[in-house]
Amino acid sequence: MANSASPFGLREEDLIAIPVESLKANTPINFDLYASVGGSDPRRANDIVLFASAPSNWHSAEPSMLKKCGIAHFFIRPDDQKRYRSYLAFNTASRTVDRNGTPEFRISQIQDIGSHLMEVCFHTGMDNLVLDRLQTVANDIVTCLEDDPRAVLHIQNLVDHDMYTYFHSTGVGILSVAIAKAMGENNADVLRCFALGGLLHDIGKRETPLHVLNKSGPLLDTEWDMMKKHPEDGFNAVKSLDVPEMVRDIILYHHEKRDGTGYPFRLSADKIPLPAQLVSIADIFNALTTTRSYHRKRTRFEALMLMKQDMLGKIWVDAFKGLITALTEGEAAADDKEIRSITLG
Ligand SMILES: [Fe+2]
Ligand SMILES: [Fe+2]
Repeated sequence: MANSASPFGLREEDLIAIPVESLKANTPINFDLYASVGGSDPRRANDIVLFASAPSNWHSAEPSMLKKCGIAHFFIRPDDQKRYRSYLAFNTASRTVDRNGTPEFRISQIQDIGSHLMEVCFHTGMDNLVLDRLQTVANDIVTCLEDDPRAVLHIQNLVDHDMYTYFHSTGVGILSVAIAKAMGENNADVLRCFALGGLLHDIGKRETPLHVLNKSGPLLDTEWDMMKKHPEDGFNAVKSLDVPEMVRDIILYHHEKRDGTGYPFRLSADKIPLPAQLVSIADIFNALTTTRSYHRKRTRFEALMLMKQDMLGKIWVDAFKGLITALTEGEAAADDKEIRSITLG
């Protein structure tokens, strides 16, 4: 790359190159775009010019035209990198699920789109635009499981470290709907609330310091205190938006335990709204069946046995039974027999 100085004081090496193709036609751009323009004097370094200043709209659907002008990539400033990442994530998240795909493909699309959307939520916060997209994903979850309840078995549990919270959120959304359906809930509005509640249950973790969120060892007391704030932070994040009360309850109470040892309010048994108790089971199960830095991924059977042995006094047993039903409904999967053997009296 040329060692270029510009009249703006910007040099190529101080900027980040992005491919022209990464900009999608008719999308709003909230970061400045720079281009490197060559002069006729080959001994002179290229100029960096401001191509479009934010906010702008990207109208050109013809990156090939730009290529003909010698512009194959733009540049952004490092302080705009986060905005650019969110822009990419939102565009990925704006794709739609192919409703004619196989259940496995649909679930993978839902998790891909949903997790990118969650990434946007974590980077830029909640707003009506994101909420609208989340509601579409919530609807996709409900229709996918209505078409085939066994789709729940295709939740992806092997994800890289950075994407964990985003994939976990979609996994919890899918599992929560599956449990509610297995318990006999058929109202599509209620099921959509379970999906949205699952997607948003950990949204408050965007306020949790990253060193606490990603710590591989046990948390110090002070770090636990920070972690325990995420239900209330999440509740506050959706406070001004048109989010159903059931979804707010899920966000605020999903870490309460029936024996009163949960947080943030140490509520016991019947004081905890049932939707939050249901999502809490999806939350625990999804975390146990996913590889984390501090534990290996457990099989579905191992996770259920662990929940049965260690947590029965803390969780809603009917919803736990619903989870077992959801995982063994319909056509048999390889681990159905051992999962069905789990008895709860
Ligand atoms: Fe949580
Ligand atoms: Fe969670």
